Amino acid sequence: MKIVAVCGSPRKGNSEWMLTKLCEELSRRGAEVEMLLLRKMDVQMCRGCLTCEKGGKKRKGDCVIKDDMLDVYPRLIAADAIVLATPGYMEMLSGLLKNFLDRTCAVWPRLEGKRLAGLAVAEEGIGQTIMNLKWYAKLCQMRWMGSVAILAKNPADAARIPGLENRLKRLARKIISG
Ligand SMILES: Cc1cc2nc3c(=O)[nH]c(=O)nc-3n(C[C@H](O)[C@H](O)[C@H](O)COP(=O)(O)O)c2cc1C
Repeated sequence: MKIVAVCGSPRKGNSEWMLTKLCEELSRRGAEVEMLLLRKMDVQMCRGCLTCEKGGKKRKGDCVIKDDMLDVYPRLIAADAIVLATPGYMEMLSGLLKNFLDRTCAVWPRLEGKRLAGLAVAEEGIGQTIMNLKWYAKLCQMRWMGSVAILAKNPADAARIPGLENRLKRLARKIISG
């Protein structure tokens, strides 16, 4: 099983810690996991040209912007499951992750039927963050596998939350078993 795990935090913080733990469990269970740290990648803003829509439902990831998404598109098409991790910013997903999702315009009809799971972290209130991810799954007709959401502020906070690793392991099992 091929899994692409995307982290939408601009820092090495709680989202990244949770995603790393989840990916470790997914790998232990035999999945081929690739983790994308958007903070280290060149993913430019969607320009809104809609050139990517030319291939219709069979579009292959043709985007006029030649950046790191060129490599990501075939991986998303080949994946069985995608995991999205994000900090809650203004009680929504982060700008980094939102831009990544906008850029999936070049492949989104090809994501139908794949599994999607979400991780979110905010200091006081998750707000719409998990709902944003669920809504993306609905739009793409992906299968929602569930989520883990926590409250944490500073980068090392998540690692101190009792029981969190077990919640992540349970989500990993769900992603694998479908
Ligand atoms: C621009 C910005 C907006 C934020 N908005 C919220 C918010 O609306 N609600 C909240 O509880 N925390 C908010 N936070 C706090 C972060 O969600 C929190 O620090 C989280 O742990 C960051 O995740 P990370 O460690 O994965 O980067 C915000 C932080 C930043 C930098």
